[in-house]
Amino acid sequence: MAKPMLFSCTACGAAHSKWAGRCDACGAWNTIVEEAPLSAGPGARALTAKGRSIPLGTLATSDAPPPRTASALSEFDRTLGGGLVEGSAILVGGDPGIGKSTLLLQAAAAFARAGLSCLYLSGEEASAQIRMRAQRLGLSDAPVRLGTETNLRDILTTLDAERPDLAVIDSIQTLWSDTVESAPGSVSQVRASAHELVSFAKRRGTSVILVGHVTKEGQIAGPRVVEHMVDTVLYFEGERGHQFRILRAVKNRFGAADEIGVFEMTGAGLAEVHNPSALFLSERGQASPGSAVFAGIEGTRPVLTEIQALVTPSTLGTPRRTVVGLDSGRLSTILAVLEARCAVPFAGLDVFLNVAGGMKVTEPAADLAVAAALLSAREDVALPPECVVFGEISLSGALRPVGQTENRLKEARKLGFTTAIAPARSKIGGGEGMRLREMADLTAFVGDMFGAG
Ligand code: TYD
Ligand code: MG
Repeated sequence: MAKPMLFSCTACGAAHSKWAGRCDACGAWNTIVEEAPLSAGPGARALTAKGRSIPLGTLATSDAPPPRTASALSEFDRTLGGGLVEGSAILVGGDPGIGKSTLLLQAAAAFARAGLSCLYLSGEEASAQIRMRAQRLGLSDAPVRLGTETNLRDILTTLDAERPDLAVIDSIQTLWSDTVESAPGSVSQVRASAHELVSFAKRRGTSVILVGHVTKEGQIAGPRVVEHMVDTVLYFEGERGHQFRILRAVKNRFGAADEIGVFEMTGAGLAEVHNPSALFLSERGQASPGSAVFAGIEGTRPVLTEIQALVTPSTLGTPRRTVVGLDSGRLSTILAVLEARCAVPFAGLDVFLNVAGGMKVTEPAADLAVAAALLSAREDVALPPECVVFGEISLSGALRPVGQTENRLKEARKLGFTTAIAPARSKIGGGEGMRLREMADLTAFVGDMFGAG
């Protein structure tokens, strides 16, 4: 007989038969914890015993799409794909202290004011604390019902009796079920609680929003195991020390993934930012060397961000490569292409790269803007201030056109830019009022902007 699986990884959920320091499935260290084995119920039979056959249907549907409710918190609705879908299960993950409880209290109040019956159940804070926060946010009069509980059985009984349209559970890590032996926050507890709540959502048509903390230490189970169970996974992110917060859909069965909502943390809670480009560019002063404006796309919305680079002589044997808001592997690739294809060396130079405002950029279309910022910093030559940049760089040094050129140009024009530097063959429409400078490859770009590389 096979041994029961007793250990699982809190990062990726892989099951292991024995403890190890490193999970060989995802490579994370110190994330494997012991779990109570799944025991068969008293009525369990071998799988070879006959079950009942499942009724099958066709793909055609006459059903209307599931009803959605929009609230006054439109950035939240946008991230969900245009409002809250009835009976959907949503996970909101994020670092502790980033503002999840604040966001969801505001969301619960917004949906309650839009006519949904809303429950806010907290296992983390006392009622008095939540009421004080609600008062500070000006939400005391919103018809949200508040409860503090960590026992899953009591929560399910309450939900069954109340049948709310929306239940917010803050947080999934504090819940415990008396049917599972391990401590609250362990993978088995988190998995069991999430499973029960998601099944409840599907059975009763109640939308459930679960809050999950992500910690690096792995003491609390990451909500990774829950991601597979829910319909929508949103991450609330932001740099500490910056007031901007981005709500990003990383999985959405009811809308576009990668959609973002932008908020600003203020003294009176989270304020919506409807024009993020203006905000991210607001700190930009005079045109200075090392700065390039990237015309990017987040989900369905164009967002302009400033990419900043600083290049200084290094005193270290291995020069520094410091990146904030971009992938460091991507920086290494772009530096290598500049060295190998354009003969612009960065050896002996420290390179610092940063996306202004605490935004994270993951699009390959940012490559050319990164290269532009790096070259501008290295040559100490400012790019023209009225110019945006986008395009993907291939390892050969060629520039690849990217999608949604039209949206990028429209947004740039709206913010007062008049020129765009883009790969050749970028299909153009809606480019009125914008001058397009098309570059075939990186060498042409270097020659054009900074003289012969
Ligand atoms: P919180 O929502 O408790 O974070 P989380 O639930 O993700 O742990 O918010 C944490 C931070 O937000 C806290 O450090 C204070 C700050 N904050 C404000 O700046 N303004 C506000 O109006 C509120 C309610 C919180
Ligand atoms: Mg909280």
